[in-house]
Amino acid sequence: MRISEDIIMEIKYKNPIEEVISPYVTLKRAGRNLNGLCPFHNEKTPSFTVYPDTASFYCFGCGAGGDAFTFIKRIENLDYVEAVKKLAEQSGITIPEGDYDDSYLKLKNRIYEVNRETARYFNKYLFTPNGKWALDYLIQRGLSVDTINHFGLGCAPDGWDNLLKHLKSKGFSLNEMEQANVITKNSRGGYYDRFRNRTMFPIIEINGKVIGFSGRRHPDEDRGGKYINTSDTPVYKKSKSLFGFNFAKNCCSERLLIVEGNMDVVSLHQAGFENTIGTLGTAFTDEQARLLARYTKEVVLSFDSDAAGQKAASRAIATLSGSGLSVRVLSIPDGKDPDEFIKKNGRERFEGLLKGATNEIEYRLLRAAEGLNMETNDGKARYLNRVATELSLVKDAIAVDLYAGRVADKYGVSKEILIKKAEELRKKSFKAERKKEVREILRPSYKSGELVPEERTNLRGVKAEKEIISVLMAHPDLFSRLRTFTAEEFISALNKRVFISLKEVVEKYGRFDISFLGDEFSPEETGYIASLQNREVTFANPVQSLTESITTLREEKNNHDVSQGESTVSWEEQMRRIIEKKKESSK
Ligand code: CTP
Ligand code: MN
Repeated sequence: MRISEDIIMEIKYKNPIEEVISPYVTLKRAGRNLNGLCPFHNEKTPSFTVYPDTASFYCFGCGAGGDAFTFIKRIENLDYVEAVKKLAEQSGITIPEGDYDDSYLKLKNRIYEVNRETARYFNKYLFTPNGKWALDYLIQRGLSVDTINHFGLGCAPDGWDNLLKHLKSKGFSLNEMEQANVITKNSRGGYYDRFRNRTMFPIIEINGKVIGFSGRRHPDEDRGGKYINTSDTPVYKKSKSLFGFNFAKNCCSERLLIVEGNMDVVSLHQAGFENTIGTLGTAFTDEQARLLARYTKEVVLSFDSDAAGQKAASRAIATLSGSGLSVRVLSIPDGKDPDEFIKKNGRERFEGLLKGATNEIEYRLLRAAEGLNMETNDGKARYLNRVATELSLVKDAIAVDLYAGRVADKYGVSKEILIKKAEELRKKSFKAERKKEVREILRPSYKSGELVPEERTNLRGVKAEKEIISVLMAHPDLFSRLRTFTAEEFISALNKRVFISLKEVVEKYGRFDISFLGDEFSPEETGYIASLQNREVTFANPVQSLTESITTLREEKNNHDVSQGESTVSWEEQMRRIIEKKKESSK
């Protein structure tokens, strides 16, 4: 069951693609189309294109593409029906009840309810005699009862099925509890509570819904992970979640403070640093970085000063600055984490650290000396090389001058030479990067190799298939010209599926629109379809293009069938054959 096409088209009509996308991407007009930096991967030159004519978008860099619904679905992390509903609401359209399959949506809502009830249960339990140990622990760690309740902290009882029984009494099914990942199946098919005898931190989404939990083990316990977290569920994705973001996002327009530990987040909030969020023990993902970039300009990382923490910081810097955020690093003296530091030295001194937090470049320049013996000439030379490499990444000439000056003073070397070297390296890497991006753009089928593996063994045939599909998308009336040609003649599985769907759509609606496909194709496939629809070709003579492509495809299919036995021909060999064939045909 799906939402009726009439409604889909009405929603689409009221939500022009460029208007849907522009709150998320700065778009510049380029002829009929618009360009911008792709929100789905990191890039410096725009390869994300919006096509108002076909109400679709496509990124030449990463292959993302589709219509307004696909875009909202991906950027807001929604499923198809939710994305349709969101755009419908924005334009005041009501979707008739029962017009779509919302069972998954309903399950998600039940999971949110399971989570809310679980959080409430753990929080209540914290204030009972059996939960007192956890309350004492939190208070001993410096938290006030107000802070504890603000974050909804709690205690998971010791025992196998306390929560399970409670949730059952509230009318939740085992399946709903399991899907929420608050209970786990044992080897005999029974269920038990996933969080036991732990201090509990609910993880709350931006809109205030509880999406999961992080549980710290009992302080006297040393078995089991120190923290265990909810695994991915329909409402919780580890790679997209952050701890404390629901509180922080209201006060983070200028800057966000990122720490590793849950405890650090809670105690910094209590100390008045409400713009603090936690990473929930995972390496920073591009998705998280892009999410942050939508709310703030600058992030300050304050990771543990141990080796693991510093390594995580280095990686996070790369990911975060890749999303256009400016990054500073606050390092805490004597191996403390922010929570310990603030308790020992007070908030003013932490504020002081924050003010003096080195920016990304300074941090890297300081770290560049690590592992080198600066007493030796060799050590110095290697250090200066590393510094030049770091400086080559800095765009601001004043900053380069400033840092080069500092390093020069410190080690008694020439500032000018350092700047010159950095400049050389910068030019070199800029060229290399541009080349790489240009290469990617010049290869519109960049991703299609994975989607259409047949392209590797029959480039010419698959190219003809694409041509056929593109012509028919632009000129659906030409379907009437296809007498003997059928989907069976396609070489590649995906193109065949696209052709069949295209044909169905055109038979039903008399024209093609990517939105008629609903969510029949995967996000990657949808991107590919958008690329076929928006290929930069104008068919001077569509009938001729169509017939020629069919001829080519038939030729290739015959050749291919004949050479079935040698399907392991290398790519180079294929290219050689194609070139030979071209030579022959131009004779
Ligand atoms: N973490 C995790 N799983 C672990 C260890 C850590 O998910 N086995 C995550 C938690 O989110 C934790 C963060 O990584 O808060 C930092 O871990 P760590 O530095 O070991 O703990 P602290 O936050 O210092 O723990 P505490 O202060 O509660 O002792
Ligand atoms: Mn700690």
